[in-house]
Amino acid sequence: MERIVCIIGNKGGTGKTSMTHMLCHGLGLLGRQSIAVLTDAARTPLAREGRRYIPLDGRTPETLERIVRKLEALPSWIGVIDGGGNRPEMDRRFYEMSSLALLPFRDSHEDIRTVVDDLDAFPEAYGIPSQWPTNPWQQMAAERTLDELMPDYRDRLLDPVYSVSASKLLLQTRQPPSLPTLLNNVCRSMARQVLDRMKLPYKEESVS
Ligand SMILES: Nc1ncnc2c1ncn2[C@@H]1O[C@H](COP(=O)(O)OP(=O)(O)OP(=O)(O)O)[C@@H](O)[C@H]1O
Ligand SMILES: [Mg+2]
Repeated sequence: MERIVCIIGNKGGTGKTSMTHMLCHGLGLLGRQSIAVLTDAARTPLAREGRRYIPLDGRTPETLERIVRKLEALPSWIGVIDGGGNRPEMDRRFYEMSSLALLPFRDSHEDIRTVVDDLDAFPEAYGIPSQWPTNPWQQMAAERTLDELMPDYRDRLLDPVYSVSASKLLLQTRQPPSLPTLLNNVCRSMARQVLDRMKLPYKEESVS
C-alpha cells in the first residue's frame, strides 16, 4: 500500500521497535499523522496518551487487517509496521503490503551479515544503520566496517539513526509528556528521509 512502511529484518534486537516509534514520533513533529503497528506477540501494547501518533495492536491477522482497512479510509495517515526478529514469513508479508521497507542494522559484523542477506531477499528494501555511534572516531570505524563488509550495498543505505539513550522513553507504556530535544531531532531527521523516499510532503514545526 501507498502509505505503509515496514521495519523488518531477520535478526533480533536491531532496533525495529525503537525505530518504529522514533519514526512515528518524528512524523508527528513534521505534522504527519501515523499509526505504529505492533505485530510482535512478545510485546505488550503501549498507551496512546501523550503521543504524537497512535500505537495500535496488530498482533493477530484480524487486528492487522482492521488497521490496514482503517489506513485505507484515512488517506493522509501513514502506517508503520514494527516487525519482529526471526519471522521470515511475516517479514515477507509485511514487505509485500508496504510501499517502503526498512532493514535496521547496527555496526556489528553479525548485524551486517544478516542485513546483506535481507537486502538480497528484499530487493526494494533499504538498510538503515541503527544505534549509530555519535563519537567521531567510532563513527569513522563504523563507516570503514560498511566499506569492508557491504561495499556493493552503499546506495541502498539510508542515513543512520543515531544512538540516543532517550529513545527508550518512547517505549515506556506511557510516554513522558516532554522529550529531550536531541531525541526529537533524531526522530525528525529519520522521518524527513522516509517522507522524502515516499515523496510525501511535510511541514517543519518551530518548537522542539
Ligand atoms: N537509536 C537508538 N539509540 C539507543 N538505543 C537504541 C536505539 N535503538 C534501539 N536501541 C536499544 O536497543 C535495544 C534493542 O532495540 P529494539 O527493542 O528496538 O530492537 P528490536 O529489533 O525491536 O528487537 P526485537 O527483535 O526483540 O523485536 C533496546 O534496548 C533499545 O532501547
Ligand atoms: Mg521489537
